[in-house]
Amino acid sequence: MDREKVQLLVISLSIVFFTLLIILFALFFYFQKKKTQFLIDKMESEIHFQSELIKTRVEIKDQTLSEISKELHDNIGQIISVAIMQVNLYLKNEEKVTKADLNELKNVLAKSLDEIRILSRIINKDNLINTNFIESIKNDFDRIKKLKNIECVFNHDETFPKINVEHELILYRIFQEAIHNSLKHSLSKKIEIDVTCEKKKLLIRLKDYGIGFDLNKTSKGLGLNNIKFRAKLIGATVSIESNNNGTILLLEYLLNKKNEN
Ligand SMILES: Nc1ncnc2c1ncn2[C@@H]1O[C@H](COP(=O)(O)OP(=O)(O)OP(=O)(O)O)[C@@H](O)[C@H]1O
Ligand SMILES: [Mg+2]
Repeated sequence: MDREKVQLLVISLSIVFFTLLIILFALFFYFQKKKTQFLIDKMESEIHFQSELIKTRVEIKDQTLSEISKELHDNIGQIISVAIMQVNLYLKNEEKVTKADLNELKNVLAKSLDEIRILSRIINKDNLINTNFIESIKNDFDRIKKLKNIECVFNHDETFPKINVEHELILYRIFQEAIHNSLKHSLSKKIEIDVTCEKKKLLIRLKDYGIGFDLNKTSKGLGLNNIKFRAKLIGATVSIESNNNGTILLLEYLLNKKNEN
């Protein structure tokens, strides 16, 4: 091979080599950028989830406290007013106060003490944001049964699946909102929650026996939208059926490795 040909070969090989090197660098930076973007997206979605979680905690506290304040005013305030009225009557009355009168007064005061106990148990810091779904619903149902005089039925298996605690908190918030809707709008005297597990799915169903509503004509409230948004956040699906015999809200949550603890 003459010298010129060798030179040409060296130049061509150098060009090929440098082109390959540039392609390699370009690919390296491209994938590096993709990886960084993927990590940024992951971090952003984690931040979004955590901020939603904080909002959920605040809402659970707010709603529980506002219900308790309402119950303190409506129930206990009412009972104590009755007791004061009774004492006033005894004071005005010329006749002697009998043992039966005092017993009646004692019962009224004992009832208010009972209700204060129920409420103070809920205000307790540990109960206010309890991440245990079953216990939280049980507490709420106890309170609703006693203070609102509404029949509450809670059917659940002995063992609730061990799921991500943050998801469990969000599940509770969803049902706190749904129960609130049944109490506020349905006029039902009975509400029912069933918790079951089937085919790697957790199913939670809330039913009321009230007036129902037209799903296509709901007002611009936040409740139902929040329920759907939160369900999506934890990868669950929500379906609602409603007619004039009542409303059923069914939530389905997948029990896969990602969601189980
Ligand atoms: N269980 C139910 N029974 C009867 N009507 C219901 C029930 N749940 C919801 N609704 C109807 O759907 C509407 C929308 O509910 P949503 O929770 O979104 O808003 P809201 O309760 O009116 O207001 P917010 O939740 O913001 O306080 C309600 O106004 C009510 O008319
Ligand atoms: Mg609502």
